Amino acid sequence: MGQAFAHEHVVIRRGVRSRLPLIVAVHSRALGPAVGGCRLRRYGTWQDGLADALRLSEAMTYKAAVAGLDFGGGKTVIALDRGTELTADLREAVLEDLGELIASFEGSYRTGPDIGTGPEDMVTLRRFSPYAYCAPEAHGGTGDSGGPTATGVLAALRAGARHAFGDASCTGRTVVIAGFGSVGSGIAAGLAAEGAHVVVSDVEQSRKDAALASGYRWVEPDQALLAPADILVPAAVGGVLDEAVVPRLTARLVVGPANNQLTEDSVADSLAKHGIVWVPDYVASAGGIIYALSRESENHAHEAAQQRVEGIGDTVGHLLDLARSTGVTPMRAAQQIAERRLASAASHVLDA
Ligand SMILES: NC(=O)c1ccc[n+]([C@@H]2O[C@H](COP(=O)([O-])OP(=O)(O)OC[C@H]3O[C@@H](n4cnc5c(N)ncnc54)[C@H](O)[C@@H]3O)[C@@H](O)[C@H]2O)c1
Repeated sequence: MGQAFAHEHVVIRRGVRSRLPLIVAVHSRALGPAVGGCRLRRYGTWQDGLADALRLSEAMTYKAAVAGLDFGGGKTVIALDRGTELTADLREAVLEDLGELIASFEGSYRTGPDIGTGPEDMVTLRRFSPYAYCAPEAHGGTGDSGGPTATGVLAALRAGARHAFGDASCTGRTVVIAGFGSVGSGIAAGLAAEGAHVVVSDVEQSRKDAALASGYRWVEPDQALLAPADILVPAAVGGVLDEAVVPRLTARLVVGPANNQLTEDSVADSLAKHGIVWVPDYVASAGGIIYALSRESENHAHEAAQQRVEGIGDTVGHLLDLARSTGVTPMRAAQQIAERRLASAASHVLDA
């Protein structure tokens, strides 16, 4: 991913109802319509929100390309400043503003929930455009994507285990899951059913209570990364893997949904040097988007969509094979797979 300006189209608009800045960044439509969720959060300045939209939309291009989706990358950011209180009325107003903006793309950019927005917010957007995914089922969407994302992480984890341990089974393995939320709890349930020793952690007392009630072992969040484990699953926040922590990890496999797990790209080299198999987060976490697009855009039934999510296992197996056979990190192998797809789409356009 480069530094040069590579985005196809960026719209920055002040909402007529809310007067808040709305940013839609479309990075690439080389493979198909751009997709990417709507982030609603506070930023120091709206320009910080723009920087986030540019970065996240580019990441979406890579995520969709490696996942084999015929979609490109985009992102919406609604940038709140420190002084603005997000009342229910203002929320509704800004979502109506956004609905109008999404409709103006006529399907060439499509959105869904991200940090600060949820399935219910998509109902408002859908009053203006059908291109808002993951609305609650009662409103014709597929709802919260945590379940399919967990299914995809489990498929990635098994493929990673085959590489790290020579065996895809997690029976008897100790797995530490850092973050017992929507995705982490689904991963824990899948692994426990398979006979893994599941250890979880979270910063919320209510999540600790839920984890203990489900019979999982518990580790305090500040000790989770370094707790004895075969497999570590970052399922909370990003930026958890840095140069200092890598040599101290006991896990031989790290795979989880948390976005932007590495503090910098060079950490991927350190992980490889220490013999730790790391599955790039955006590859492991693609289950939610694969499921929503299969169901809501391609009209596949649940089973077929689920099968496509399980296909993340093949994607991860292929990219780890490629990494091993060409002597590059899994991060680089994933970039190469994406870049190959994007280059081939670009050459088809030139041929046409
Ligand atoms: N939900 C999806 O479909 C999806 C898709 C792609 C990526 N992701 C990413 O996966 C991660 C988890 O998503 P989610 O939907 O389960 O979110 P969530 O909010 O439901 O759960 C996250 C959990 O992590 C806990 N947490 C926060 N800081 C922590 C810390 N330092 N240590 C331990 N626990 C901590 C929170 O209390 C919460 O229970 C996020 O990074 C998210 O961006 C989610």
